[in-house]
Amino acid sequence: MSRIEQEDLHAICSDIKELAQRLAGSTLLITGGAGFLGNYFIGTIDHLNKNFLDRPCRIISVDNFITGVKYRLQEGPNFRTIKHDVREPFKVEEPVDYLIHAAGIASPKFYRQYKLETIDVATTGTRNMLELARQKKVKSFLYFSSSEVYGDPDPAFVPTPETYHGNVSPIGPRSNYDESKRLGETLCMAYYEVYGVPVKMVRPFNVYGPGMRLDDYRVIPNFTASLFAGKPIPVYGQGHHTRTFCYISDAITGFMRALLSDKSGEVFNIGNDDREVTMLTLARTMAEIYNPTAEIHNIEGLNDAYSRADPHRRCPDLTKTKTNLGYNPKVELRDGLKRFIDWAEESYKKE
Ligand SMILES: NC(=O)c1ccc[n+]([C@@H]2O[C@H](COP(=O)([O-])OP(=O)(O)OC[C@H]3O[C@@H](n4cnc5c(N)ncnc54)[C@H](O)[C@@H]3O)[C@@H](O)[C@H]2O)c1
Repeated sequence: MSRIEQEDLHAICSDIKELAQRLAGSTLLITGGAGFLGNYFIGTIDHLNKNFLDRPCRIISVDNFITGVKYRLQEGPNFRTIKHDVREPFKVEEPVDYLIHAAGIASPKFYRQYKLETIDVATTGTRNMLELARQKKVKSFLYFSSSEVYGDPDPAFVPTPETYHGNVSPIGPRSNYDESKRLGETLCMAYYEVYGVPVKMVRPFNVYGPGMRLDDYRVIPNFTASLFAGKPIPVYGQGHHTRTFCYISDAITGFMRALLSDKSGEVFNIGNDDREVTMLTLARTMAEIYNPTAEIHNIEGLNDAYSRADPHRRCPDLTKTKTNLGYNPKVELRDGLKRFIDWAEESYKKE
């Protein structure tokens, strides 16, 4: 594991070490553990086990590797992996105390390729996991929704609070992702109301950091790959659309705070409200960090999800999350970008 990831894990665990005592001696099941966020969760629990918990938390990870790369932690007495597609019902002998449903198809490149799989993992997959949570009587269930449930928000609702209901097309190029995440939330609320499953839902806003695939076309890895290849940075359209970016250590801290809270039946934005930047500014900032002479090219998006359906703005209103969960993102954009580029250089450039 790189120095940067180790520092990140230490920052996360230092922030949540008191809350995390609840995990001592428990079993946590995570879906999508071989992906970007999943690997960070597993790394976080492993770091807690080694440094902060009296009794370890056992982890079971379930992934079908449709987009996941690999696990960064070796299997051992406290970490077991199971290859399984969560669109199918799932049974496991052990007790499950905490369940994180992070399996999903997150990048527009892949969710346009796997249209139905994307819908199924967020709907049938979520239902299967809620059913497991109900049978196991879990203490907490965390569902990974997305800020995409807001669609292309009315500018009057940017920064966007959880109470905004969204501006989403049911038939547009992004709808298989957006609408299925929305139905996933509906299923969570139904299981909370009907069976009392202690669900928490998070809506992440563009999380980035070590462990992302450079070929998955999310914007920061995509710009990084072009910088490494000495090619112009590909900015879609005029590059005027905006995003906020949340570095992984802040995001995982927020997700863990939601999982370990008593806020069942609630949804939380998780992101960074510090700087809403245009894609052009992002490209310029990344060029300044890595190669100030890099050119920027305006090009047509990879597919229709990036071109005609790309939301104009994305920025979270974090009032609810800060007030209820004590969440406080710390990593500034330029620092986070530098960390990501340094990690990617160490991990990918040789390849
Ligand atoms: N990273 C972000 O900025 C962000 C933003 C909003 C929402 N999310 C959501 O958070 C979750 C994790 O995102 P990520 O960035 O780690 O994505 P990722 O693609 O890196 O990881 C997702 C993992 O889920 C697995 N998976 C997909 N379908 C599956 C299935 N049917 N059965 C078992 N495993 C399956 C994949 O193989 C992969 O390992 C996803 O649900 C995503 O939609 C992420």
